[in-house]
Amino acid sequence: MEKSEFYTFLKGIPKAELHIHIEAVMSKDTIKKLYLKKNGVEFSDAEMTELFNYSDLNGFIAAFLKVQDLFTSVDDFDLIFEDLKNYLLRNGIAYCEAFFAPSAFIKKGFSYAEMTKNFQKNLKKIEEETGIKVLLMGDVSRTFGLENAENNFKMFSENPFEGFIGIGLGGAESKGPSKDFGPVFEKAHKAGFHAVAHAGEDCGPESIWDAIKICKAERIGHGITASQDEELMKYLSENKIALEVCPTSNVFTKKYVKAMSEHPVRQFFDKKVPVVIGTDDPIFFGVELLDEYWNLYTDLKFTKEEFKELIMNSFDYSFLSPSDKFTFKNSVEDSWK
Ligand code: HPA
Ligand code: ZN
Repeated sequence: MEKSEFYTFLKGIPKAELHIHIEAVMSKDTIKKLYLKKNGVEFSDAEMTELFNYSDLNGFIAAFLKVQDLFTSVDDFDLIFEDLKNYLLRNGIAYCEAFFAPSAFIKKGFSYAEMTKNFQKNLKKIEEETGIKVLLMGDVSRTFGLENAENNFKMFSENPFEGFIGIGLGGAESKGPSKDFGPVFEKAHKAGFHAVAHAGEDCGPESIWDAIKICKAERIGHGITASQDEELMKYLSENKIALEVCPTSNVFTKKYVKAMSEHPVRQFFDKKVPVVIGTDDPIFFGVELLDEYWNLYTDLKFTKEEFKELIMNSFDYSFLSPSDKFTFKNSVEDSWK
């Protein structure tokens, strides 16, 4: 299939996006607006280039924090949700589970209760304007230690809101291994929250084992180093624990994937490890969901039928109710014809 035909076809198939960070879907235009609002001067092209100049996960996370630092008030999130809405529409995404990372906002004095009001308002607005359902997961974060993560969890549990479904564990993996965050996950499970964790993105398979055994994560963000451990791949397959694979993100942060053609997602898929495709940080890695599918098509030789399985997975491994999964999967079948 030609590129334009591929994009048109795939855009028309309803898909779920299960691994994306809302702060990382903002457009360059929004970055410029926020910078001007904060600093009273324009953000230059040279500064924009510099912002996106990093070569590993920790460098990227530093850039992610700089972008969060551009926010000066809670209503700045309106711009992000508008960007998110446009992103979802451009990519034919019918359902989305997205992360937000509150630590940096709380540190600068934002009220979490105000943030939740804004989030709820914007989720409703997206659904009313487009029919697309977006649910949020709060990143307790591993970057600032266990105490900060515990505080984030406390904040989430004391301020529940419609559209909030659980916790994630993102940030600098090499500085905050999964095993250190068991106590937060235990509380989250007790509170009835869903719980997922980034693992095996910047560390070896032991980090994934810890995310599963200690944190009891329901899905693993990235999980690419599972490819180094046959037993782990077998475990993921048998226990139906999905990897949220974001191929371009891994090529960018380089540590374990040197080129798209070498990405282990092909190996996972062939070994029946459940995989869902996500984008992680579209603005930072210059990639959107349709592009990721195109990468799988051109560099990893995924077939049309295999795409259908990946798209069905995106609903099957979501946190939707069984009846909603059924409805979405029927709409995939209908639009596939
Ligand atoms: N890994 C860890 N933390 C993150 C990421 C990621 O890919 N994106 C945003 N926060
Ligand atoms: Zn991520």
